[in-house]
Amino acid sequence: MGSLLKSTLFLISFLLVATSVEPFLFNLLPFFKPPLALPLLQPPAKAEKGIRTTVENQNGGGSWELIKENSGVSAMHLVILRNNKAVFFDASVTGPSLLPLPKGQCRVDTRTKKEDCWAHGVEMDLNTYDMRPLKVITDTWCSSGAFDEDGNLVQAGGWNDGGNAVRILSPCDNCNWNENPKGLAVQRWYSSQQVLPDGRFIIIGGRRQMNYEFLPPPGQSNKVTYDLPLLQQTTDDVENNLYPFVHLLPDGNLFVFANNRSILLDPRTNKVVKEFPILNGGSRNYPASGLSALLPIDLNRQGRKGRPINVEVLICGGAPHNAAKLAAAKNRVFLGALRSCGRITVTKPNPTWRVEVMPTPRVMGDILLLPNAEVLILNGARRGSAGWYWGAEPNLEPVLYRPRGPRNERFVTLTPATIPRMYHSSSAVLPDTSILVAGSNPIPTYNITLGPGNPYPTEVRLEKFYPPYMNSNNDVLRPTIISESAPADVKYGQTFTLDFTSRTGMMTGEIDLMVTMYTPPFTTHAVSMNQRLLILKMKGWEYLSGSTYRVAVSAPPSPELAPAGYYMVFVVSHGVPSHSVWIKVHK
Ligand SMILES: *[C@@H]1O[C@H](CO)[C@@H](O)[C@H](O)[C@H]1NC(C)=O
Ligand SMILES: *[C@@H]1O[C@H](CO)[C@@H](O)[C@H](O)[C@H]1NC(C)=O
Repeated sequence: MGSLLKSTLFLISFLLVATSVEPFLFNLLPFFKPPLALPLLQPPAKAEKGIRTTVENQNGGGSWELIKENSGVSAMHLVILRNNKAVFFDASVTGPSLLPLPKGQCRVDTRTKKEDCWAHGVEMDLNTYDMRPLKVITDTWCSSGAFDEDGNLVQAGGWNDGGNAVRILSPCDNCNWNENPKGLAVQRWYSSQQVLPDGRFIIIGGRRQMNYEFLPPPGQSNKVTYDLPLLQQTTDDVENNLYPFVHLLPDGNLFVFANNRSILLDPRTNKVVKEFPILNGGSRNYPASGLSALLPIDLNRQGRKGRPINVEVLICGGAPHNAAKLAAAKNRVFLGALRSCGRITVTKPNPTWRVEVMPTPRVMGDILLLPNAEVLILNGARRGSAGWYWGAEPNLEPVLYRPRGPRNERFVTLTPATIPRMYHSSSAVLPDTSILVAGSNPIPTYNITLGPGNPYPTEVRLEKFYPPYMNSNNDVLRPTIISESAPADVKYGQTFTLDFTSRTGMMTGEIDLMVTMYTPPFTTHAVSMNQRLLILKMKGWEYLSGSTYRVAVSAPPSPELAPAGYYMVFVVSHGVPSHSVWIKVHK
């Protein structure tokens, strides 16, 4: 094994020199073959590199493209940085990845004291797909993250030596992790992190932690934790309340959902100010791993002065309380995942859950807010639970949820994928409005070979999913932002304008225009932390010349609605979004 590793490294360093133009183009390496398709589990393979497969007449449409055969590292955690790079990483505990660290930059594992020359994190340029290995010392396995005002990824927790760690990764061409192994007061593994209106970060829960704390300033160590009885009350024999769902509301309170219960927590006073009714049907948090999103907030619909802006939370899928227990049992029973969703107006005085049903059951999926204010649900399985080996029957069908559609007509099934994305998969909205789909590794090591005993191999292939608004029949409707017209930054409440071109639509007299603003979330384990989308208050629009228009909107009024930081801003015409521009919102 040692000598095989050595000769592999030698071959790789040789190839690096030989192909110095694109040093990490591992697609060329003959020994990194993607796993073969298993006909029983997958529809006929449509994914073919460089070929975009479109099935426009099937259900709601959408299409898939395989963009990289080998991303080197399986994307357990995924974020998009404001310099148009995707960063993904998994854990050092999974052993050698498929991407070596640059020569002379091996890490020493603090637990085993062994040298480890494999990358566990990667940065990928979204335009060229070039990759740069990232070096991280402490174990990021099942950690959390959020962005600060300057677009730095601030990331915490993990396993073993990573449990107390706070790590910062800045968006630049050669930045690497800056790690503080003693940042947190206690070890946090499977906890959730949220950026607050004052710029602090709260980190909630984690295995055997029925409490929360605030991240210390860079380089410092926190000492204080706050008990959260909700976590004590909702843990069960398989701990179905890990990675709690956390959403920041316009009044500065946090909606916290664990297992089947939820509360409002005021992070300024550390008081629980409200408890919501139980959501029936099963467990929704890890390892039952359902999905949760704060639905798009429309700032055109806000109440009169003093009236709160109504916001809604959607929670979908998950698993019965005992799904993990039965999947782990000797005879391995994979219970069906949940199909139900609960939707609740969290800002109302006495709200209740309104239940809707998804077209298919789903556990371990992803939920993303799309630039046109619709919701996309994808990835995951139809049976079982999160956990190594505990999932079965991949759910290959993405579904679109239209929050404003008539009840019972809100879900649309889209073109199915061909690659199962099970436990430890992820996805992200990209600046070009497509979706990066990555990861899946339900085994404790890297094994990309499909076979008996390995039905869901380590997945290192990267795909793009093109939602229906990218179907070619929508090309004519798509506005294009003139990037130079966009301000680099705006203050809260400030009116700003964007110039854009449009081939059609605006001249017909029928105006269907909005400007949306999206926080890139930190996605892992079916949770997209800090994800929010605002429909900005429209001030007006005018025709300039040729096919060029100008739209004026107001920046969000407060950091409770939009914590300071970098947002992707889209112009949406007739439901079809432009590519984004990055705009910083600040005080
Ligand atoms: C809520 O979850 C707990 C723990 O899994 C479970 O025992 C209880 O029956 C659930 N309650 C309802 C109403 O589903
Ligand atoms: C990877 O999985 C295949 C298919 O089950 C199996 O034959 C092989 O032994 C596995 N490799 C390792 C290193 O475990």
